[in-house]
Amino acid sequence: MDHVWSQHKGLLSQVEKQIHKGVRSEVSLVNRVASHILNSGGKRIRPLLLILSAQIFKQFDQEALFYGGGIVEFIHTASLLHDDVIDNAEVRRGIPPARVLWGNQASILVGDYLYTLALSLAVKLDDLEINNLLADTCLRMAEGEMLQLSHSSDLDLTEATYLKIIEYKTALLISTSCRLGAIMGQASEKEKEALTRYGKNLGVAFQVADDTLDYIADGQRLGKSLGEDLKEGKITLPLIHLLKNCDGEEKRWLSEVMKAEKSLEGDLHRVVGLMVRYGSIQYAKKRARDFSDYARQDLDLFTDSPNKKALLTVADYVIRRDH
Ligand code: IPE
Ligand code: IPE
Ligand code: MG
Ligand code: MG
Repeated sequence: MDHVWSQHKGLLSQVEKQIHKGVRSEVSLVNRVASHILNSGGKRIRPLLLILSAQIFKQFDQEALFYGGGIVEFIHTASLLHDDVIDNAEVRRGIPPARVLWGNQASILVGDYLYTLALSLAVKLDDLEINNLLADTCLRMAEGEMLQLSHSSDLDLTEATYLKIIEYKTALLISTSCRLGAIMGQASEKEKEALTRYGKNLGVAFQVADDTLDYIADGQRLGKSLGEDLKEGKITLPLIHLLKNCDGEEKRWLSEVMKAEKSLEGDLHRVVGLMVRYGSIQYAKKRARDFSDYARQDLDLFTDSPNKKALLTVADYVIRRDH
């Protein structure tokens, strides 16, 4: 994957410029909070996908790609500022998130600012298709988070509902980034649909991998603390599998662990042990692989090219990544 990043370093640095030009509030605290998160080392995977998708085609306006890349990164960043409040996060990208440094209110408000900034930048493109797409994506992302909240600590959460949650909260913005690239590349309806599906499957694979990393990653490398989902009563795929396969006593114990005020290191260790024993980690990894394979297949419509190859590499990367 490193060569994909480095081959597109030039284009991504233009997106960076766009991002820095974008936040110019007269309220200096807005700028400080926004630049803290914007400069803390995000992978910029959504702008990258937008650029790679557009470059499958011959006709595109480079300026529009940088502009669009900035928009999707602002939406992503807004969602993280809100997410860290919702999840009580103590660390993001290896450093304290905005909510720890400036408080929950500031994190929420700058999240609102960045969502609105993204949509107001989009309005300037004067393209109804793009505006509809982005507005709809933001709506669905909020619904995804609410759906997740409404199933908090729900031991009966099914895999189907879990997939719907992650489709909305995560996969849609990734899918939208690809579709935006296709629109900017003047793609046909069929080509747009293929890249939209690719992005959606890629996004689901990405979040399933993320949810698995929450149990088994190297926390230092991940830049987030482990076991957060369990602590917050967030039921994700490895836990869904474990709950379905473990015995009654273990299920009762898992429910107690999720309800406990304080989480103990030993509890997480035991949960991961059970997940390994019942094949839950393996199962979640396999499901991530399934969706990465679907994403790859969605590209069958396109003839071989360096850009298609890069999109295939991203599909591989999302399930192999360790941070
Ligand atoms: C983090 O997304 C949130 C999820 C959808 C899991 P990324 O892993 O793309 O976050 P950054 O921007 O690179 O930190
Ligand atoms: C992804 O959800 C966040 C968004 C889509 C905003 P998580 O809460 O699982 O992501 P991380 O683990 O905090 O990055
Ligand atoms: Mg979170
Ligand atoms: Mg969350």
